[in-house]
Amino acid sequence: MTILIKNGRIITDVEDYTADIFIEKGKISTIFSKISSDADVIIDASDKYVIPGGIDAHTHLDMPLANTFSSDNFESGTIAAAYGGTTTIIDFPSQDRGSSPQDALQRWFQKAEGKACIDFGFHMILTDTTRLEMEDLKELVNEGITSFKLFMAYPGSLMLDDGSIFELMRAAQKLGSLICIHAENGEVIDSLVNEAVEDGKTAPLFHALTRPASMEGEAINRSIALAKVAGCPVYIVHVSTYDGLKRIMEARDQGTPVFAETCPQYLLLSLDDMIDSKGFESAKYVFTPPLREQGHQEKLWDGIAKNHIQVVATDHCPFNLNGQKDFGKDDFTKIPNGAPGIENRLHLMYENGVKKNKISLNRWVELCATRPAKIFGLYPKKGTIAVDGDADLVIWDPKQEITISAKTHHMNVDYNLYEGYKISGSPATVISNGEIIVDNNKFIGKAGRGKYLKRDLFSAELV
Ligand code: URP
Ligand code: ZN
Ligand code: ZN
Repeated sequence: MTILIKNGRIITDVEDYTADIFIEKGKISTIFSKISSDADVIIDASDKYVIPGGIDAHTHLDMPLANTFSSDNFESGTIAAAYGGTTTIIDFPSQDRGSSPQDALQRWFQKAEGKACIDFGFHMILTDTTRLEMEDLKELVNEGITSFKLFMAYPGSLMLDDGSIFELMRAAQKLGSLICIHAENGEVIDSLVNEAVEDGKTAPLFHALTRPASMEGEAINRSIALAKVAGCPVYIVHVSTYDGLKRIMEARDQGTPVFAETCPQYLLLSLDDMIDSKGFESAKYVFTPPLREQGHQEKLWDGIAKNHIQVVATDHCPFNLNGQKDFGKDDFTKIPNGAPGIENRLHLMYENGVKKNKISLNRWVELCATRPAKIFGLYPKKGTIAVDGDADLVIWDPKQEITISAKTHHMNVDYNLYEGYKISGSPATVISNGEIIVDNNKFIGKAGRGKYLKRDLFSAELV
């Protein structure tokens, strides 16, 4: 199948020009001012932007948590992603304590098999160093798992102590891989949670109130200090506070290889949204780290503008309010942590970033596609628009208006954090590996067509 995209305004992280794009055998074969060849499909992209397919570097599909599974599997989740212009995800297999990460990897391959509709890579969550040898990590790297997520929160299940974190950072330094950190002081938070429950403070809001901003700042600072001694680069996932951002800024100013991700929920929502919601509806906002007081938002936007934050991902980890979140009706500690977002990342960043002049079109592309590709070993196959690159493209119509709603979204979850938000700009066509998978607001791809991506090692030169 060949596709010719005509007259589109091509936006990459650094370029903005009008040209035609010819696609064959899943790749971009020519980019030229005017291409007159015949093609199986010709798309007129006049008055539209042509951008690289979005890369969501932080998703949890079919993820086991709190005796349930996140409600999007690899089929529903990747279809929803495609509707929103995301053509690659990086998901998180999680090592079970007492077993090897290879077991987790095989389980996640099974989850994706026959289901994934867009390309996918994997990080690996490591939870048990007693079951890990350097050989295990080497094997993972050889299979294209070139980044490992370590938790400083959730003692007793996911959390690693500082010694284990340091050992794995050292191993990452030797392997040339990247450590991703969930930075919250788990021990202190657990104490605060226990105190709250003893005092009968069991409503969802106490999930947020027992996770102080300073405990994210402390953990980010500690993780950076450990990474500096270990000599490995570190990527802080879902940064939600100025407390944490300040530490990242200080480290980056000193030339330390620290990278940071934030998510739309921390840029657009605050603790007030949780406080203002009625009754158990506030459980929609039970995710970790939690929503913060208003002041943090502008600081995070500023961090994006000044490149202290390089990536916007979703941390998509949906649970239905009815039937899953309500496990914790009488006790917030039983509410599965996580929220949906995979479908609306590009929409939200376009409307609230580009259109409000907080970021340029180039920066939008960079945050949502190019930087994640560079940091996570997918560039230049993905994350840009170039000859020989994968033909993962979104034709973005800035005139298409949508209203976000759980009634019309494609994520398999009964609420949307951004219910009623109006967005002017949405994908008209989404192309993955040279195949049109969304056309005219209809998903036309096939389950299982998405390919597993073996990612390259972290490269300091690229980032
Ligand atoms: O609440 C969240 N974010 N759940 C997913 C797991 C994580 O910490 O990223
Ligand atoms: Zn996390
Ligand atoms: Zn996560």
